[in-house]
Amino acid sequence: MTTSDTNKLMDGAALAKKVLKQAAAKVEKIQLTVSVTPALATVLVGSDPASTTYVRMKQKRCQAAGVKSVAIEMSAETSTDQLIEQITNLGQDSSIHGILLQHPVPDGVNERAAFEAIPVTKDVDGVTAGTLGRVMLGMPAFGSCTPAGIMRLLAEYEVPLSGTSAVVIGRSPILGKPMAAMLINAHATVTVCHSRTRNLPEIVAQADLVVAAVGKPRFVQGDWIKPGAVVIDAGYNEGNLGDVDFEPARQHASLITPVPGGVGPMTIATLIDQTADAAAALEGVKL
Ligand SMILES: NC(=O)c1ccc[n+]([C@@H]2O[C@H](COP(=O)([O-])OP(=O)(O)OC[C@H]3O[C@@H](n4cnc5c(N)ncnc54)[C@H](OP(=O)(O)O)[C@@H]3O)[C@@H](O)[C@H]2O)c1
Repeated sequence: MTTSDTNKLMDGAALAKKVLKQAAAKVEKIQLTVSVTPALATVLVGSDPASTTYVRMKQKRCQAAGVKSVAIEMSAETSTDQLIEQITNLGQDSSIHGILLQHPVPDGVNERAAFEAIPVTKDVDGVTAGTLGRVMLGMPAFGSCTPAGIMRLLAEYEVPLSGTSAVVIGRSPILGKPMAAMLINAHATVTVCHSRTRNLPEIVAQADLVVAAVGKPRFVQGDWIKPGAVVIDAGYNEGNLGDVDFEPARQHASLITPVPGGVGPMTIATLIDQTADAAAALEGVKL
């Protein structure tokens, strides 16, 4: 890799460290002001290895920032009603400031219904309909952590958004849709693509900014990328692979996120920072 290639990389790991430091300062202020430690409840249903690893990573980062992590583990046989009851209890527990339901939940559990049991004030992972509505309307909200983390990365690298053409590939409720809303709010002209989109390479080739959130390893081809475009790879697939064919895409892009070390660390840092913000709001502390 040459120096100019290195300069093209958007270092999510470095920015995540900064965000976690800021979160730790917020936690300290809350503790000093009201003698309360911000707490994030992580709810894990079943024992899917990837989900278990993600939850552990989140708990570790919590500790690093001084946030208390309260681990709730439920069996794979948990019913939707039992999960909703657990989440409702956490919603009513004044010692809990943020609730993260690790997803996907096992088949047979109604994930959407479980998400909706999270009060918007504690929805630090940004998964509820209430949060997405607020994001769409440009109201204050804890945005879904992956797109919110991407917005922070774009700001850090001073990527101009107003008036630019952005293509988001993927329309999931936690990634593609909130990403599109956040980019629209930042005055980009946004095209959202999905599995029924025709002529995807031609659409991507028009974009100044491409966000790949597809869930297919190396799906976005390097020669689709307009020279000088900014490429954000939100994908995380087995074998540490993103949704973008990184090496060829890097040749065309002016800036690109690596996988790992790009979007992933920003997602977790945003979760922790939003937990500190939720605690401040719930405890009446002005940060
Ligand atoms: N780094 C992180 O912290 C983080 C967090 C969350 C997710 N992720 C990663 O981000 C990626 C997307 O996650 P997700 O939860 O949004 O996935 P998802 O719910 O499976 O959504 C994937 C989206 O990609 C679209 N798609 C599938 N095949 C396509 C094709 N051939 N052409 C165009 N679009 C296509 C789907 O279209 P339809 O709607 O038409 O089916 C869907 O909208 C995954 O790699 C995931 O691991 C990373």
